[in-house]
Amino acid sequence: MSNRPQTEEELQTREAIGVIRASRFVRKYAHSHKAISMVTICAIHKKIFKDAWPEIAGKYREENLKITHSEHLPPHHSEVASLMAKRDEELQSKLNALQTVEGVIHGKHSNEHALAETFEAVVRVAAWLHHAITFVHPFREGNGRTARLAANLILERYGLVGISVKIEKENKNRYRQTLAQIDIMNDVEPLISLIYDGLLERYDGVPLKYYRVKK
Ligand SMILES: Nc1ncnc2c1ncn2[C@@H]1O[C@H](COP(=O)(O)OP(=O)(O)O)[C@@H](O)[C@H]1O
Ligand SMILES: [Mg+2]
Repeated sequence: MSNRPQTEEELQTREAIGVIRASRFVRKYAHSHKAISMVTICAIHKKIFKDAWPEIAGKYREENLKITHSEHLPPHHSEVASLMAKRDEELQSKLNALQTVEGVIHGKHSNEHALAETFEAVVRVAAWLHHAITFVHPFREGNGRTARLAANLILERYGLVGISVKIEKENKNRYRQTLAQIDIMNDVEPLISLIYDGLLERYDGVPLKYYRVKK
């Protein structure tokens, strides 16, 4: 499909199909052994926008943006590629240090504490990647959708399940404040809690204490 959408409705339909396509890509990619890097993040973005907005699909932005309802001003577009390259280096070192949840489940010495610690380490990297993307806002559009799928890619690759962050109506403010809290105060805890809430919903019947390290 190379023609541009002709109406707003058609654009929205193509984006919706794009998100479903990108979610499928993330699930398959998570279960492969292919490396996860910012190239993968661009590939997720490309899956979302290839029919809706081909010119920007998978490419870093070439203009400056503001985020609606946010005080955070994303960096100048000329800095995006180098900032993302730096985030990629950090991502690689974080991923190298991660254990998979499978390792703990199948390990001889698995216990409640080891499980909770591994869970938390994985969730922290997922939250970090989510915020790395929303903070830099590397794309012209779709940064939020890409960031949430990127977080799910980390969760699923390391043995957890993808979650759905609630961003509708009354939850919208909590989500935005959660991201602003990191921009302003470098406090990732609210985003970590948001991801844990999503996991709690998915792991039916497993109380939070089994996968959140007690502080
Ligand atoms: N204060 C903030 N700091 C960083 N990112 C934010 C902030 N507030 C909102 N966001 C992110 O920006 C996204 C909106 O950017 P946009 O590129 O339009 O993504 P999408 O089109 O997928 O919604 C929100 O979904 C959210 O993830
Ligand atoms: Mg948008």
